[in-house]
Amino acid sequence: MDVPWWRKAVVYQVYPRSFADGDEDGTGDLPGVRSRLDYLAELGIDALWLSPFYPSPLHDGGYDVSDYIDVDPRFGTLADFDALVADAGARGIRVIVDIVPNHCSIEHPAFQEALTAGPGSVQRDRFIFREGRGDAPPNNWESMFGGPAWTRVSDGQWYLHLFDSAQPDWNWRNPWVATMFDEVLRFWLDRDVGGFRIDVAHGLFKDAALPDLDDPTPSDRISPYYHQSDLAAHYRSWRAILDSYPGNPTAVGEIWVEDPEDWRLYLDPAGLPQLFNFLLLRAPWSADAFRRVIDTAFATLGDSPTWVLGNHDVVRQVTRYGLIKPATGVMTQPGTMVGPNAVIDQALGTRRARAAALLLLALPGSAYIYQGDELGLPEVLDLPLRDDPVFRRSVGHFLGRDGCRVPMPWSGTTEPYGWHRPWLPPPDNWTDLTVAAQQADPTSTLWLYRDASRIRRAHEALGAGELRWRDAPPGGLVFEREPGFVCAINFGPGSMPLPGYGKVLLASSPLDDAALPPDTAVWLQAD
Ligand code: GLC
Repeated sequence: MDVPWWRKAVVYQVYPRSFADGDEDGTGDLPGVRSRLDYLAELGIDALWLSPFYPSPLHDGGYDVSDYIDVDPRFGTLADFDALVADAGARGIRVIVDIVPNHCSIEHPAFQEALTAGPGSVQRDRFIFREGRGDAPPNNWESMFGGPAWTRVSDGQWYLHLFDSAQPDWNWRNPWVATMFDEVLRFWLDRDVGGFRIDVAHGLFKDAALPDLDDPTPSDRISPYYHQSDLAAHYRSWRAILDSYPGNPTAVGEIWVEDPEDWRLYLDPAGLPQLFNFLLLRAPWSADAFRRVIDTAFATLGDSPTWVLGNHDVVRQVTRYGLIKPATGVMTQPGTMVGPNAVIDQALGTRRARAAALLLLALPGSAYIYQGDELGLPEVLDLPLRDDPVFRRSVGHFLGRDGCRVPMPWSGTTEPYGWHRPWLPPPDNWTDLTVAAQQADPTSTLWLYRDASRIRRAHEALGAGELRWRDAPPGGLVFEREPGFVCAINFGPGSMPLPGYGKVLLASSPLDDAALPPDTAVWLQAD
């Protein structure tokens, strides 16, 4: 089928700070990523998406950008970036960069100029500054990270920040901002990137009246700050820029929704090429829930959507799927049910995460893998230090996202597993989870991912396209893809008879005669 590369791509997300450290200063960097390209090539990925590596005070792990067209010295140089793109390209891997257009860093020169220039200036109009209501903020909006979405500056005005106070929101109704970002896109496209991941892609435009909300609790619903209709034209203009470059560069929007119908705003064929479908990531471990979200995704997004099980913002799937008893009190983030006193069965979670990986890679469309998921890493809940603004702003009430950002364990039998004083310490029980340990073990999760992507590349039925459901017993899902591919998943608790098949291509756990054991997925070649 002749479809753009990104409709069937396996994309691997690198969180540069925690991936690999080229200069051994404890912070991962671009030379570190470059030194691991063979590892990524063996994983069989089509593209790697780099979370931000731009100059930043790192108040939100780099999603607070002070210069959109450079590399933070801690992460390397532009020359390192170019070398990474070239070496990745030589292995058939495209590089997608993360663009953060909703907000910048308080250290961005434009924000510094806005502070100095004062109320009523053109510089201030690049951000969303307003007078307060007496001593109260201009409206009742809350930050996604907790607390008010407004911070007051010394002359009395307030600026809007949907996230941390170190991340002022741009005013997208000011053409200066739009022009600046057009240039940012071109800067990276000129450096041969495969495209962009767009941070908070649903947040750029705010209702100009900035009205109070009936319920200010942060949410992904349509609101005066999310999913404003101006976004449709905005993404058409970005698509035109993308399409003016060779190689079919993509852009994938981070668009969280509460109702998948809200995606419709973004589904213009001349607009945003792709958006993240987070439905699978939010589904509890059950056949009914998975079936429902897969059907919803096809019904809304058409064939070949994106699929995601994990990223740098959510609890690792091993821990999510192994959750036996929810936490009380402190949790990682609102509503996650995972916290230090939750009961988690890691072996069960690992088994399920492996099954989910086979589902992910068998679904029609493009699949996103977050670094460390291929190792079956769990969430680390007992870190001795925390860096996430979610932790800071909630004054420790929520642990935040550091637990899924622990540096990749590469080698060795004791922590820090090949790192030199990493910025976050890995736990001391990851000896069997290191890359080196898993490379030596054909039953490892790493090998499961490698085998799955090898088969995915070779099998005509996999990648873009459609699926057809087959009847399955309760607790199971079975679908087929033409020609000749069947995927069956047993969500448990009992074992499930296998559908008829010619040969087993891959199983997430050992099969039991002709039965699919609980929490197992299998890829079959049809008769
Ligand atoms: C996105 C990023 C997240 C970041 C937030 C603010 O959701 O994925 O890591 O904290 O935007 O930039």
